[in-house]
Amino acid sequence: MGKRSRQRKKEHQNNSKPGGRDNRDNAGWGAGYTDIVKENKLFEAYYQELGLVPEGEFDQFMEAMREPLPATIRITGYKSHAKEILHCLKNKYFKEIQEVEIDGQKIEAPQPLSWYPDELAWHTNMSRKILRKSPLLEKFHQFLVSETESGNISRQEAVSMIPPLLMKIEPHHKILDMCAAPGSKTAQLIEMLHSDMDVPFPEGFVIANDVDNKRCYLLVHQAKRLNSPCIMVVNQDASCIPRLQIDTEDGQKDTLFYDRILCDVPCSGDGTMRKNIDVWKKWTTSNSLHLHGLQIRIAVRGVEQLAVGGRMVYSTCSLNPIEDEAVIATLLEKSEGALELADASADLPGLKWMPGVTKWKLMTKEGQWYKDWSEVPANRHTQIRPTMFPPTDTEKLANMKLERCMRILPHHQNTGGFFVAVLVKNAPMPWNRRFPKLRKEQLFSSVPQPEDSPVGTPLPETPLEDGEREGGGKEAGEDSPKEPEADDQTKEPNMCG
Ligand SMILES: C[S@@+](CC[C@H](N)C(=O)[O-])C[C@H]1O[C@@H](n2cnc3c(N)ncnc32)[C@H](O)[C@@H]1O
Repeated sequence: MGKRSRQRKKEHQNNSKPGGRDNRDNAGWGAGYTDIVKENKLFEAYYQELGLVPEGEFDQFMEAMREPLPATIRITGYKSHAKEILHCLKNKYFKEIQEVEIDGQKIEAPQPLSWYPDELAWHTNMSRKILRKSPLLEKFHQFLVSETESGNISRQEAVSMIPPLLMKIEPHHKILDMCAAPGSKTAQLIEMLHSDMDVPFPEGFVIANDVDNKRCYLLVHQAKRLNSPCIMVVNQDASCIPRLQIDTEDGQKDTLFYDRILCDVPCSGDGTMRKNIDVWKKWTTSNSLHLHGLQIRIAVRGVEQLAVGGRMVYSTCSLNPIEDEAVIATLLEKSEGALELADASADLPGLKWMPGVTKWKLMTKEGQWYKDWSEVPANRHTQIRPTMFPPTDTEKLANMKLERCMRILPHHQNTGGFFVAVLVKNAPMPWNRRFPKLRKEQLFSSVPQPEDSPVGTPLPETPLEDGEREGGGKEAGEDSPKEPEADDQTKEPNMCG
């Protein structure tokens, strides 16, 4: 067996065992593409009809979807070390590449992603196939393979680097990463906690969670490479992740609320078609319909555990509004003003994105369209839920400012497709508001404002018991609003991650 075959065999083994590299963000540099017909009529019909892609650009959009994804790399680790690797890449490998011609075409020099700080992320115009095949790129390829293995470089999709950047992490932040495996974003979060090299032990921490026990080992592997004391891996269903108790300075117990939450939910992954070409064969809208309820439940549990004043970033690698704007609109509606979408338009200079949409409709896997809930026949009510449609109250819809959501289209800057929204919590969730202990007679004589609810917020019908706190008392699902119980969403096979 030749050296390359042995290498490939080793990579295959690595990918299939815990601790090996994952196929979403850290796919082996040696992985190749098999031939597959990149066509799916339903996909095309759906996105053309939805109008998410600006007029006149649909052909470009589809063309980009069919092209292999060019490799992007992120230099990982802490600042001083990352700078050394950057120096090496810029002054040696990138210079050498510029001399190379493949099939008469000059290789373009890799470019730093304008919106990623400190030139630590780079975009190449080479697919993994070219990188692997061309003998002229062998040295560069070898460097990438070995540095990836030792954890200095991560072959992370450009769009997947976005959510942590929008979280505005500071070293004292308590962070929850709800669906964290394989952990490329967790690694970014840990690095951000350690951004001040003068502080060896930041006050903050990251709790990285995933429901999949095997994938939790990928998280452990990521964390180990960064050698940080500020990370804990947990293995829970994020939609009912238990609240944690912390000791306060005066020796009391208190519920832990997170300053920052990353909610990078399981999704249908149609934004990853350029890399995960299987999605071409498998795509139907039923994946989105199945996942919508789970996505809402995870996001609701997230905002319950978010501190007032905190930020939660919700993201998917799906372009489908059912998994994107519909989830955000449902959260905003349930929050009754406690949550708002932050304007992140200035946070990533140079990144092109489309504003979130306010109109969308729903298509079944048989190609049947429904504009709103009233059109859905009763026999479809377990699969299709009202929360999948845009809110009908136009004033409410305008107040949600869904245009603040960001959708990244593949043809705009040669990336995968992605969706991200930043939520800020201004008050406790309505079902978690705490009331001062009231004497019976007070309850009936006047209607006081709850301690920590915004002025003017109507009182919920049943005040919580004293001592029950937001995110506390009962687990999600007991006292949080009920979610659509569509067919079992947790067992959907065609989901990303
Ligand atoms: C999109 S991937 C996350 C990618 C990850 N954030 C990263 O950047 O590497 C979604 C993850 O959600 C996990 N997942 C699915 N259902 C979950 C649940 N109910 N609770 C927690 N994690 C879940 C999957 O195992 C998968 O690892």
